[in-house]
Amino acid sequence: MPAEQTLARIAKEVEVCTKCALHESRKKSVAGEGPADAEIMFIGEGPGFHENEQGRPFVGASGKFLDQLLAQAELTRADVFICNVVKCRPPENRDPQPEELSACDEYLQRQIETINPSIIVTLGRISMGKFFGNVKISAVHGQMQKVGERFVIPMFHPAAALHQPPLKPSILADFAKLPSQLDEARNALGRKAVKKKESSLKRKEKQMSLF
Ligand code: URA
Ligand code: SF4
Repeated sequence: MPAEQTLARIAKEVEVCTKCALHESRKKSVAGEGPADAEIMFIGEGPGFHENEQGRPFVGASGKFLDQLLAQAELTRADVFICNVVKCRPPENRDPQPEELSACDEYLQRQIETINPSIIVTLGRISMGKFFGNVKISAVHGQMQKVGERFVIPMFHPAAALHQPPLKPSILADFAKLPSQLDEARNALGRKAVKKKESSLKRKEKQMSLF
């Protein structure tokens, strides 16, 4: 099955999933979005208020900031896959509980296998915990490490940087390092660069200019 189709199937399953208690209060599940051949995958924590309303990842305040961070890395949303460790909103944005994380992990695991990214960027402590044991994010943020057949870079959560202004220069600097880390990861994995995607906005601009 082509990778796009596999991702669409996972999203369909997530839409009607009742494997953990988070399904009871969700409005819309948020499977994640981005191209199936993304070289970089971002994994956040879970949908917040706006994500739960729209069914799309990182569309609230942290999402706006994430767009700025992507620009630091010379990336747009069209280039990357963005998702979360839990696909349904935890009530009052509380931390996802261990049983919710383990119930939802199957979907994330299938997304990772399907996309097979060279780099996974974890956003915040909770998604960092999936790949690293008991490490302090303040000590390891921005450092790329080999985990299995790919590389993982833990980063602060954009919302944390919004609430704690001293973290902002740090997270900006970490994103600015991403292009060179991506080169390094490609070399180590023997992979070629995937052609950059035109953002949907640019596509629209081009279409308009034809008239
Ligand atoms: N915070 C997250 O961790 N994920 C989202 O999708 C939005 C905010
Ligand atoms: Fe299913 Fe994950 Fe939603 Fe829980 S959070 S109901 S496991 S999709």
